[in-house]
Amino acid sequence: MHGMDKKLKLLTYGCQMNVADSERMAGLLKQIGYSLTDDFDEADLIIINTCCVRATAEDKVFGQIGRFKTLKRQKPSLILGVAGCMAQKEGANLIKRAPHVDFVLGTGQSSEVARVVQSVERERKHFVDISNVSGDIPTEVFPLRGGQVSTFVPIMYGCNNFCTYCIVPYVRGRERSRKPEEIFSEVKQAIAEGFKEITLLGQNVNSYAGGMTFAELLSYVDKIAGVERLRFMTSHPKDLSDELIAAIANGKNTCEHIHLPVQYGSDKILQRMNRVYTVEKYLELVKKIRAAIPNVSLTTDLIVGFPGETDKDFAETLDFLKAVKFDAAFTFIYSKRSGTPAATFENQIDDETKHRRLNELMQVQNEISLEKNRALIDSVVEVLVEGASKTDDKIFTGRTRQNKLVLFEHGNEHAGDLINVKISQAQTWLLKGTTQK
Ligand code: SAH
Ligand code: SF4
Ligand code: F3S
Repeated sequence: MHGMDKKLKLLTYGCQMNVADSERMAGLLKQIGYSLTDDFDEADLIIINTCCVRATAEDKVFGQIGRFKTLKRQKPSLILGVAGCMAQKEGANLIKRAPHVDFVLGTGQSSEVARVVQSVERERKHFVDISNVSGDIPTEVFPLRGGQVSTFVPIMYGCNNFCTYCIVPYVRGRERSRKPEEIFSEVKQAIAEGFKEITLLGQNVNSYAGGMTFAELLSYVDKIAGVERLRFMTSHPKDLSDELIAAIANGKNTCEHIHLPVQYGSDKILQRMNRVYTVEKYLELVKKIRAAIPNVSLTTDLIVGFPGETDKDFAETLDFLKAVKFDAAFTFIYSKRSGTPAATFENQIDDETKHRRLNELMQVQNEISLEKNRALIDSVVEVLVEGASKTDDKIFTGRTRQNKLVLFEHGNEHAGDLINVKISQAQTWLLKGTTQK
């Protein structure tokens, strides 16, 4: 096999952290002769990078693994690997359930992927390593980045917060921060490759503890030549300091957008979720942010159907949404994750109630999102061009500094250009406009 061009198909589920991990794995596998393909039939190696944050994410992965059975029968030399959060959670169970899986690699060892693949190539034996969920972060990385305009740079891994519903701390381990110099050099590397927009990533970016505060780190990266736009996610409200608000306000290239998951809008549920802030505290934070950063857009995550949720709690959440007026919200139905405290809580909510509440929540938020977007009609916004839309190559897409998606008719713009667009139409999740000379 050595020296031959081998093909890798990478399937990535879950959050941005998994996208970044996949790019790193692709970079490591490139060094041992694997190049990326989109074609399953052509692949010599398929890796599924998995998510287990909700049952639906796991179901998708099991479905996908099942489908590879036929592929493997047709091509016995095919190597099939499972990495990521579900690999970390399930370990050898995955191979027990699907013996056509060759290897299972936990989140703390994804930097070992090339060594693991080589050993499977040689020995054709099942391999499982989920031994160190809080494994060391590699100091040198060679990511094979997807996209061409915007890219992710992880700054910390893991989570220490243990929200009672959430599996992430168990499958991502304890918080570990990268050294500033390593982050800066990776940012410069991405800029040298042509990227214009950097998103600093972490389960809780603002709990960064790599020898300086997250606010300081952000201010440094803001000044790196070639970083035209700087973003970060995800922030936990408990760690959103005044210093960080000031860094966002003062940063020239730091975008005016904060994704600040609130999860719920009643104190009783927030406490049961172990979110460690109250509705009042969150509202004060929002007020402070909006005072310091004009034009800021705020987005959030919300979970409905948490155990013990009453009509009264839910009504408080709707009132909360109307009070804050988020630009957008990602809304989820609570999914019971075994091993987390909330899985054993009494008064689990039935599916029908969960769905009814989700719909109501989305309706309220959609109206707010639309109202916020409508307020932008006739204004001129700065858009970073991403490229042709998926459905029509005469329509291009890009994003505002507030991270709003904008569609416009293509003239002579290129991916990576910063252009001005006058907004003419608004929908819940996007804006349409015409380019300004
Ligand atoms: N570290 C980030 C993201 C965690 S996962 C943060 O703290 O915000 C992304 C989102 O998934 C969470 O914000 C939460 O809204 C949702 N989520 C996590 N566990 C869940 C569960 N058991 N059921 C439903 N949604 C969940
Ligand atoms: Fe999960 Fe909470 Fe950690 Fe976010 S902060 S990853 S929701 S435990
Ligand atoms: Fe999913 Fe793991 Fe991200 S559980 S949301 S891929 S950290």
